[in-house]
Amino acid sequence: MKVRAAVAVASGKPLEVTTVNLEGPRAFEVLVEIKATGICHTDEFTLSGADPEGLFPAILGHEGAGVVVEVGPGVTTLKPGDHVIPLYTPECRTCEYCLNPKTNLCQAIRSTQGQGLMPDGSSRFTTLDGDPILHYMGTSTFANYTVVPEIALAKINPDAPFDKVCYIGCGVTTGIGAVINTAKVEIGSRAIVFGLGGIGLNVIQGLRLAGADQIVGVDLNADKKPMAERFGMTDFVNPTEVEGDLVPYLVNLTKGGAD
Ligand SMILES: NC(=O)c1ccc[n+]([C@@H]2O[C@H](COP(=O)([O-])OP(=O)(O)OC[C@H]3O[C@@H](n4cnc5c(N)ncnc54)[C@H](O)[C@@H]3O)[C@@H](O)[C@H]2O)c1
Ligand SMILES: [Zn+2]
Ligand SMILES: [Zn+2]
Repeated sequence: MKVRAAVAVASGKPLEVTTVNLEGPRAFEVLVEIKATGICHTDEFTLSGADPEGLFPAILGHEGAGVVVEVGPGVTTLKPGDHVIPLYTPECRTCEYCLNPKTNLCQAIRSTQGQGLMPDGSSRFTTLDGDPILHYMGTSTFANYTVVPEIALAKINPDAPFDKVCYIGCGVTTGIGAVINTAKVEIGSRAIVFGLGGIGLNVIQGLRLAGADQIVGVDLNADKKPMAERFGMTDFVNPTEVEGDLVPYLVNLTKGGAD
């Protein structure tokens, strides 16, 4: 089928919005109509050429939400009409990593995913001339339709708004996970968050959930302040407006430093 996509043709070049071919789902794969996608800084990192694992041409995007259109042979957990979020870390539920309580970094399809390919070693996307275009992070959400392995899709409540839940694909889980699982923030903590983009806002949201008392946000861009306050930031610091070194200023603001 023909689909519209924003194609990363080469590193350092702007995305090209164009029509590409998408082959239907093969065994254990699912065709998804993408209804909304976020833009994570990691997409920009890869596009810039600074990502040592970046491959081109590719269809970037990993914060999507959409609807199952068609399932390939062998798919048992999803059906057309299901609402889903693509996962760049899948969940096969059978590998050593999925079964170990210390991690969730499923390895089932990692090697092909890192090469921009589906688990069978091929790509579903091609140019209209038939030249292959690579997948990205196993998700490629900068396209109206994408093909994703069954194990890389989480079924969601159909009432959930696509333009909000798409961020669960990366920013929300990364930000809240960093607070709850990595930093293990306790009630009453003081915290400082550097960078108030997609990740920082969700770190702030996680800090609120964890019951932090003081949540200091640091960003060079003052326009980030109102949204960060909505998510729970208690103090804003713009380093360009701080006289002298930022560190003692933050230590003083947090009465001895962040927890
Ligand atoms: N799972 C992961 O490990 C994971 C997931 C997502 C993003 N990331 C990474 O996290 C970072 C943030 O991603 P994002 O999508 O939130 O980016 P973003 O572009 O939405 O936000 C970055 C923010 O940082 C601010 N900023 C830039 N330089 C600064 C500085 N020197 N001091 C203070 N603030 C500064 C910017 O003004 C902006 O508000 C990126 O490096 C991204 O690649 C990692
Ligand atoms: Zn991301
Ligand atoms: Zn697994």
